[in-house]
Amino acid sequence: MPQTFAAAQLSEFADNDRKSIVIDDDIPALLLKFGNDFYCIEDTCSHDGQPLTDGPIADCQIACPRHGARFDLKTGAATCMPATDGIRTFAVEVRDDTIYVTHDE
Ligand code: FES
Repeated sequence: MPQTFAAAQLSEFADNDRKSIVIDDDIPALLLKFGNDFYCIEDTCSHDGQPLTDGPIADCQIACPRHGARFDLKTGAATCMPATDGIRTFAVEVRDDTIYVTHDE
C-alpha cells in the first residue's frame, strides 16, 4: 500500500538544490529540484552501489560520480553504461509549502 510522508519544505530549496532523505527507514533517496520540477530518486547507483548524492545533473539525468553511469530523473532508467538496471523513483507532490513523497511499502 502506498505511503506518503512530508519530506521537506519548499523554502529549503533554491534552484537545482538537493536533499538527502531516508524512505521507510532504510532506503537512501535524493529529493531534487531541477528546473521548476521536483524529483525523488533512489540514492544508490545500480552499477556498484555508489551514492548519487553529488552526481552532476544535465538533461534531466543524474550521473554517478564513480564510473559515469546516468539515470533519468523521471523514470530512473539507466541511460548510460556501465549501469544496465535502473534505479527506483518516487512520486513527489507539492501542496502548499510542503513537499510530499510517496513510496510503496
Ligand atoms: S558505481 Fe555508479 S557507475 Fe559504477
